[in-house]
This record gives sequence, structure tokens and C-alpha cells, in this order.
Amino acid sequence: MPRMRLDKLLAHLNCGSRKEVQAMIRSGRVAVDGAVLTDPAAKVDPDTAQVLLDGQAQTYCAQRYYMLNKPTGVITASRDERHDTVLGLFPENLRRGLFAVGRLDKDTEGLLIITDDGALSHALMSPARHVCKIYEAEVEGELAPDAAGQVAAGLTLRDGTVCLPAHLEILSQREAGARVRITLREGKYHQVKRMIAALGGTVVHLRRVQLGGLRLDPALPAGAFRALTEEELVLLQQTGDIIS
Ligand code: URA
Repeated sequence: MPRMRLDKLLAHLNCGSRKEVQAMIRSGRVAVDGAVLTDPAAKVDPDTAQVLLDGQAQTYCAQRYYMLNKPTGVITASRDERHDTVLGLFPENLRRGLFAVGRLDKDTEGLLIITDDGALSHALMSPARHVCKIYEAEVEGELAPDAAGQVAAGLTLRDGTVCLPAHLEILSQREAGARVRITLREGKYHQVKRMIAALGGTVVHLRRVQLGGLRLDPALPAGAFRALTEEELVLLQQTGDIIS
């Protein structure tokens, strides 16, 4: 590939807008092949340049993939007049073009993929693919004694909607309450809450811990995000059948 301007390369690497990366370069935050470069017009080889921003290696990835541990209290939207959104948790220079894969309720926390890859998002959310989603819920109230059996057979919700067969595991039980893990292969509106209601309980806390083959990083605090590793991206692409 022909040599290109450093500011253009950094913008391609999604480090920020052209203007933002020019400011980063001028302030000495960018090193190429071991030397700090302060001229945004410096020419570099995009194939071989080892680019560090604030000491962090920047590698070319045409699309961006983040794991967010969604906190409660923010809505799954890119922009909203009245509520804080999941995209609001990202710095402005990263936000452009990003969206959430699927949706979690405002009071649900846990694994949410934020990307600019529409094809992968579509594949993961396609009802035909039945991608598994695993949730852990804190439940109040007494669940039906055959709750797991009803869920496995395909639970009927209170409004008559019939769910696909799913898996319910009681992780721990206490007086008038339980912690449960539930694995779904579909994503109906408020599905976990409605399933638990149909079984006689109330969800008081809900967290998604897995999407397809990808698990929420237990070291990622609520409200934090990080780029997916290459292995995690492959897992997700395999889940969506984008690669096999
Ligand atoms: N089921 C729910 O009830 N809420 C969510 O946010 C996700 C699944």
C-alpha cells in the first residue's frame, strides 16, 4: 500500500475524527515505529507502521466491536432526549457509526455488543438463527414446582404467547425467592420477566451473561466497555454463521 498521512491513518484506525487525531499528534501522544511524530502530515506505511496512541498499539480493523457491561438506568439507544443511553457511555470520538446489537431493558444489566457491523448484528439478531442468550435473574416469589419442565416444554405467557423451549436452572433458593439462570433461543419483548411472571415470580434483578458463544467478561465493571479480542470476535462470527 502507498504511504499515507499519519492523521489519515489514525482516523482510519478509528482513533477519532481527522481534527481530533491532528490534535493528538501535535500534542505528542502518537509514536510510530518507536519515535514520537508531531506532524499530522508525516507519511507512514499503513501496512508496516507500529502505531502507538498514549502507549497503546493501534491495529487496523475495518469494523469495531466492543463488549459493554450495560449498567442499569441507561436505555439501549444511540440517542435520546430524556434518558441516558448506552452510546453515551462511549467517548464522543468513538461513537460515530456505532449501535447496540439487540436490546436490553433499562433496568437490565450485562452483556451488550456495540459495533458498526450491520451484517453481524443482523445475523445475531435474526429470529431464524435462534442465537442463545443466557440471563441470570434474582427472583422474588414462589416459582411453580415444575418451572424448569414448563420452560423446557415451551412456556405459555400470561397473554397466551407461547415461547420456544428454553432452559431454566435454579442456582440457589431462599424463602420466597431464588436465583435462576435462563437460556433462551429467541428474544421476545421483556421475555425473561414475562416468563418468570408466568411461573409465579417477579424478576427484581436481571443480567445477561452470554450471547451465543460470547461470555460477559467478569472483570468488566458495570458501565465499562472494551474492544473484543480476536478470539471473541471469531466466537461471535461463528455464532452468527458469518464464518464457520
Ligand atoms: N428479558 C427481559 O425481560 N428483559 C431484558 O432486558 C432481556 C430479556
